[in-house]
Amino acid sequence: MISAFKMVHRRGCYFSSRRFSSKDQKVTPAWFSDDPNKISDHISLAHLLWSQVIQKGEIAIDATAGNGFDALVLSKIVLSSNSGRLYCMDIQERAIKATEDKLIQAYDSTYVKERVQMMQSSHERFPVEIAANTVSGIVYNLGYLPGTHTDGSKRIMTTPFSTILSMKNALPLLRKGGILTATAYRGHKEGIEETEACFKFFSGLNQTDWRVYSHDPINSETGAVLFSIYKR
Ligand SMILES: C[S@@+](CC[C@H](N)C(=O)[O-])C[C@H]1O[C@@H](n2cnc3c(N)ncnc32)[C@H](O)[C@@H]1O
Repeated sequence: MISAFKMVHRRGCYFSSRRFSSKDQKVTPAWFSDDPNKISDHISLAHLLWSQVIQKGEIAIDATAGNGFDALVLSKIVLSSNSGRLYCMDIQERAIKATEDKLIQAYDSTYVKERVQMMQSSHERFPVEIAANTVSGIVYNLGYLPGTHTDGSKRIMTTPFSTILSMKNALPLLRKGGILTATAYRGHKEGIEETEACFKFFSGLNQTDWRVYSHDPINSETGAVLFSIYKR
């Protein structure tokens, strides 16, 4: 029952040109806003957390690429003109296509081919080439592709079993200080179960190796929860 589900509120930069400038300088991060309410939004907050931890030239994984909005933010944080690698995974072909299109629009196709690996696959298993302790950020935005619940097609959504299995396999990949974030949605039955599964899994991580937080809108039972996990 979600009512018994007690969590406490604890606790890119933008490239206007299609290619990076030679300086690869950080400019206004995507999450930076004049709107003081925006930063408390779970998506903006996730972007902010990534930008605090993930460095240019490192490796990041978007485990639920969807329409590519998060992948684009992640790409701006982690990729430079000649370093960094982004893996984008999604079980749906149309999500992979949407994400790839978004990245190609922001950069160009050669650059995207060089720096980004698009994978239409379920995220329980990560590519074997990704060694343990090497990834700076692994992100999940759980649930289903926005818009797919109204277009008559069957919703393809993340499930507690595969999500937790994926996270179990993801954590060893993180480097020291690396971050895993998961946004979980409580607006529908499956999402409530998945949020509870995440809460249970993350609360069980040992304190010696992990710092674990949740950002929970405690005056809304249906609000999205952002989990952030840091490797010590
Ligand atoms: C809320 S959407 C992600 C939104 C996305 N990050 C964005 O910025 O647009 C959730 C995505 O998870 C994907 N998904 C569902 N089950 C999956 C699985 N087992 N492995 C990988 N992706 C999955 C869905 O296809 C959907 O595109």
